[in-house]
Amino acid sequence: MSDFEKLKDKLIKAQSSEEVEIVRGEIFGKNGLLNLEFKKLGSLSPEDKKKVASEINAAKQELTKLFNDKIIKLADSEIEEKVKKENNDVTLPEKDFRIGKIHPVSQVIDEISSIFSEIGFSVEEGPDVESEYYNFTALNTPENHPAKDMHDTFYIEENLKTLLRTHTSPVQVRTMLNGKPPFKIIAPGRTYRSDSDQTHTPMFHQLEGLHIDKNINMGHLKGCLNYFIKEFFEVDKIKMRFRPSHFPFTEPSAEVDIGYRIENNKIIIGEGDKWLEILGCGMVHPNVLKYSKVDPNKFQGFAFGIGIDRLAMLKYGINDLRSFFECDYRWLNYYGFDPLDVPTNYRGLSK
Ligand code: DAH
Repeated sequence: MSDFEKLKDKLIKAQSSEEVEIVRGEIFGKNGLLNLEFKKLGSLSPEDKKKVASEINAAKQELTKLFNDKIIKLADSEIEEKVKKENNDVTLPEKDFRIGKIHPVSQVIDEISSIFSEIGFSVEEGPDVESEYYNFTALNTPENHPAKDMHDTFYIEENLKTLLRTHTSPVQVRTMLNGKPPFKIIAPGRTYRSDSDQTHTPMFHQLEGLHIDKNINMGHLKGCLNYFIKEFFEVDKIKMRFRPSHFPFTEPSAEVDIGYRIENNKIIIGEGDKWLEILGCGMVHPNVLKYSKVDPNKFQGFAFGIGIDRLAMLKYGINDLRSFFECDYRWLNYYGFDPLDVPTNYRGLSK
């Protein structure tokens, strides 16, 4: 019996995957039979070399097929054997399962959506990979605006026309182009900027708000945000101030601060003499309406952009933003929420 035949026989007779592994080494390994035979070719005459090489190749093919079939067959029968031995009743309920938790960011998105849906806002979405046009141009952001700097923005294509959206504001334009006024929407989602420290991560979450109708003014904006902040922090009264600011896509623009104080190392929201910035907002710039095919002489409205992660940190006392994205099961188990406890305004948002 040739060496090939012997190893073939051994492979056929192998009873377990361990035995197959051993034969595999003897055939295909570095010092296995195939390599040895190939090495011998060097000393043969050209005609013999051709003939023997094709014989070795034929044997290699045959053994490879045999090996693959064998390993599949054995794996099947070994699983079957194991299942038989374990005698599991797969219809019994699981004893040792871990309950998944809802991430605080998802929880806060659900809470905010619930709050705004109470006053008639619906939820819109836009793509994470955005064009420069929607992310900047249509939002009245001039060519030389510092936000377009590559140090802030992740550009995707070399010609710099596609990027990872730096804010959720492009959803404003997409929504308006897709429908007819009035619009009353929120758009939560992921946003990206080239920034990383304790309070910045390259990917973070924002929520955009947009209300366009006839005769909407700053008073509506103020009332809407006041309602939202009180509901979100689950307090009856909130100290809040509008500070003049600048965004290319709103005129006038403001940033909203809420009052807080620190008591026993805990942050108490809504009162106190310290101020914390939580969102940007303003009346939608007529140019943005024009880019969005809405007539600024007939319609106007307000928009706002909220940093979701920041709100989650504040509400749930989490002090390092980076921990949100580390996928640490222990962290999630501690800060996460019961998946069956969907936040609603009636039952309480986070109780
Ligand atoms: N897009 C702004 C940012 O990322 C936030 C923002 C400010 C959104 C004012 C708005 C707005 O809709 O009106 O910094």
